[in-house]
Amino acid sequence: MEKIGVVGAGLMGSEIALVFALAGHEVLLADRTEADAAAGIERLVGVLKKAVERGFQTREAADAALKRIRATADLGTFKDCDLVTEAVFEDLAVKSAVLAQLDAACKPDCIIATNTSTIPISTLAGTVSETRRARFIGTHYFSPVSRMRLVEVIPAFGTSDATFEFAQRLCTGAGKTPIRVKDVAGFAVNRVLHAFMIEAVRLVEEGVATPEDIDTACRLGLGHPMGPFELMDATTSSLCLQAQEIMQEAYGERFRPRPLLKQRVRAGFVGGRKARGWRR
Ligand SMILES: NC(=O)c1ccc[n+]([C@@H]2O[C@H](COP(=O)([O-])OP(=O)(O)OC[C@H]3O[C@@H](n4cnc5c(N)ncnc54)[C@H](O)[C@@H]3O)[C@@H](O)[C@H]2O)c1
Repeated sequence: MEKIGVVGAGLMGSEIALVFALAGHEVLLADRTEADAAAGIERLVGVLKKAVERGFQTREAADAALKRIRATADLGTFKDCDLVTEAVFEDLAVKSAVLAQLDAACKPDCIIATNTSTIPISTLAGTVSETRRARFIGTHYFSPVSRMRLVEVIPAFGTSDATFEFAQRLCTGAGKTPIRVKDVAGFAVNRVLHAFMIEAVRLVEEGVATPEDIDTACRLGLGHPMGPFELMDATTSSLCLQAQEIMQEAYGERFRPRPLLKQRVRAGFVGGRKARGWRR
């Protein structure tokens, strides 16, 4: 089976490593230090424990998957990988440095994918050598990766059809459902999502309904698993604001973040694990 590499053992990278390991691939998971990479694997123990308890995985499959993931800090060990996914910080300078190292370390026919949410795939493709660009692609996963089945697969200007088909095949083999999306700001899902969130905040500003009632409306009236305010609290309002500002720059007024969202972020009501948010 294809050998997989993942750089960045954070929230996304560690679970991307997990889904490929569960599908039977050997996976190398890298971070800045071997201890950071090992901590990413350690977090997966908890993810798998819950999956076994809920009956989504057998104990045997979970144990076997964990054994297939190896922690490293040395990208030189990626030389035999067939697909490497970059999932480091959302920062062009950090990503460019990692991608240049991967380009040098990986074999010529290795495909390099990025999990960026906001940086254009073609901009990142420009940071690898000319010869690699046909084998460079965006694969945008959703959190939590072990549960969310969608992957937006985004070719850059120079991506070959064979690379697209390879990425699509490997994602499908790992239990994901890939869709092809053009390289535009927000790709497809975040454009739909933020248009929706902006309108949800507008409803609160106008006093039409409370965040709690809008969440209830979306759960019970639209069949969504969670409402927009619960989702903002889970992903953090600061990240939502950042995404909306990027899309406002790309598409204009229709993505202008609502004043109430800006005020709450400035006041520290961002949600996430530590801060108060809309609902808690
Ligand atoms: N969090 C989400 O819901 C989500 C969804 C889709 C895409 N993304 C994208 O995925 C990427 C990772 O996001 P995350 O939420 O997992 O972030 P995170 O902060 O949890 O993890 C990033 C990891 O990258 C590591 N890292 C940073 N610089 C590195 C380097 N030079 N070499 C090796 N490792 C390095 C960090 O130590 C950290 O473990 C970002 O590009 C983000 O935009 C995130």
